[in-house]
Amino acid sequence: MMGQQMEINEIITTNNLTKYYGEIKGIDDVSIKIPAIGGIGFLGPNGAGKTTLIRTLLGIIRPTRGEAYVLNYNVKTEINHVRDRIGYIPEYNTAFIPDMTAMKFVAFCGRMNGLSTIESKQRASDSLYYVGLGEERYRKLGTFSLGMKQKVKLAVALVHDPEIIIADEPTNGLDPNGRNQMLELIRNLQTDQHKHVILSSHLLRDVEQTTNYAFVFSNGHILAQGKIKDLTSAKVSTISLRIKGDESKFIEEMKNKGFEIWQERGYIEVKKTNDTEKAIFKAAVNSRVEIRYLGSRSSSLEDVFVSLFKNKEEAIQ
Ligand SMILES: Nc1ncnc2c1ncn2[C@@H]1O[C@H](COP(=O)(O)OP(=O)(O)OP(=O)(O)O)[C@@H](O)[C@H]1O
Ligand SMILES: [Mg+2]
Repeated sequence: MMGQQMEINEIITTNNLTKYYGEIKGIDDVSIKIPAIGGIGFLGPNGAGKTTLIRTLLGIIRPTRGEAYVLNYNVKTEINHVRDRIGYIPEYNTAFIPDMTAMKFVAFCGRMNGLSTIESKQRASDSLYYVGLGEERYRKLGTFSLGMKQKVKLAVALVHDPEIIIADEPTNGLDPNGRNQMLELIRNLQTDQHKHVILSSHLLRDVEQTTNYAFVFSNGHILAQGKIKDLTSAKVSTISLRIKGDESKFIEEMKNKGFEIWQERGYIEVKKTNDTEKAIFKAAVNSRVEIRYLGSRSSSLEDVFVSLFKNKEEAIQ
């Protein structure tokens, strides 16, 4: 194992992490602590910001604002330490070289991650056996099915023995059998390899089967977080607003007071905590806006899932 094995409570911390793609919001003011408890789910519909957060944590995307720490290493200034400790399974297909054998490819990735030639061969072999491709390791990648390619991606993520594995939609496009195999591997990584695994998915079922704690993404925000069993029965309360005047000024004012606030479907939404309404009226006065509508919403996370995910069956099956 690499890295100093100190006691940690959080594997990842972000402070006001924000990424805009021009005008488009990828993630907006995300401040989270990801607990060191094995399996973590990133759950959210398409476009919610899961991949943006992951790519920001890996230093592939530079945040517009905010900081992130992985195992106490600063992503901005200590990215090599961060990358040594994360194995990443990207959402889209890796550029596989069809004429290369699985062994060669995974060993090559090991070399890229700083392993010696001997180490990389040994680790490539071990990783391919681990994901169930021991027999096929000398076959060319061009002959592999999608499910096998996903397993090769997992072997690549494991080759340098990182403490954290981040899998971005690893079951996409797989048939039920392939999906179950991938989910089982993700579960086993936590139990027999003692890895911290982050699984990003738009399927509640995948997250439920593999993790016990989840962050729910919506519209670039973290809508809820907690143990899966608490989450599905939890209530999420927000206040919906329509205002006349400088919306951004009002939103800034509320953010500065520590409220979670965002725009959604023509409304401004504020996550309800103590004294939210009082703060809203105060911020309205300070930013000289007029409140035209104020309504309260409370829904179970189950309802939220259903409304977040366009396809109801997809969300809860
Ligand atoms: N390279 C990019 N350029 C412009 N906008 C982008 C880019 N990448 C993501 N976005 C936008 O940022 C928002 C968040 O996207 P992101 O890919 O992070 O979501 P996601 O939760 O991973 O979604 P999915 O489930 O579809 O993978 C979306 O509105 C998306 O259109
Ligand atoms: Mg994504």
